[in-house]
Amino acid sequence: MTGCEMRTGGIGLFHAWERQVLALYMEAFTTGAYAGHYLDEAAERGWIYRLFRDHAARCHLWVTGDTLAGFLLSADACYDRKLPASLRSTLGDGPVLSIAELAVAPSWRARGLGEALVRRCVEEAAPGYRDVIVRSNGNAAAAHRLYLRLGFEPFGSVRVRNDMLSDGRHGVEWVDKQYFRYRMAGH
Ligand SMILES: CC(C)(COP(=O)(O)OP(=O)(O)OC[C@H]1O[C@@H](n2cnc3c(N)ncnc32)[C@H](O)[C@@H]1OP(=O)(O)O)[C@@H](O)C(=O)NCCC(=O)NCCS
Repeated sequence: MTGCEMRTGGIGLFHAWERQVLALYMEAFTTGAYAGHYLDEAAERGWIYRLFRDHAARCHLWVTGDTLAGFLLSADACYDRKLPASLRSTLGDGPVLSIAELAVAPSWRARGLGEALVRRCVEEAAPGYRDVIVRSNGNAAAAHRLYLRLGFEPFGSVRVRNDMLSDGRHGVEWVDKQYFRYRMAGH
């Protein structure tokens, strides 16, 4: 992690790093386990600003000089309209925080940055939230190992409609998503 520092903040920090966060976001979520997924950058930007405006979002950024190495966005879990009521009810009462997005730039992976982002998010959530949850692509194996290593438990899956690109065509496919939950101590 030499030369990298983690910064935490709200919409102001996000705004200052918006261009690089979106560039990494667009790359991370259209390649690898997310290959073929279609994302509209302007729509994603708007969605992220709404997370800050309406759902108490926070961002944690790994930066080195003026370069972004990774980021995590968290928000109140009520933003997540894909979480079925049947799964939400298994979480019990009380506020739940979501890891809305997490990505580390490919050249910075496997150095512990992802783990440190999730740890920081859980630490920050500890005083006010009873659970931290995250929804991950069913085939995002690296992310699943990370969550399991940090004590998250799988608590359900959903099949959602995703915009996809295949052979130059723009269509929609059903994609399996896995939910993980971290229970705060004492709950
Ligand atoms: C998932 C993701 C965020 C992980 O980020 P990361 O910074 O590589 O995570 P870590 O470095 O903490 O852990 C990754 C691996 O490196 C290993 N590692 C950590 N520090 C290391 C070090 N100093 N030397 C060697 N290996 C190390 C970890 O043990 C882990 O091993 P594993 O793959 O066998 O489980 C990253 O792969 C990513 O951005 N993926 C694409 C987007 C995505 O799927 N996001 C999650 C959406 S929910």
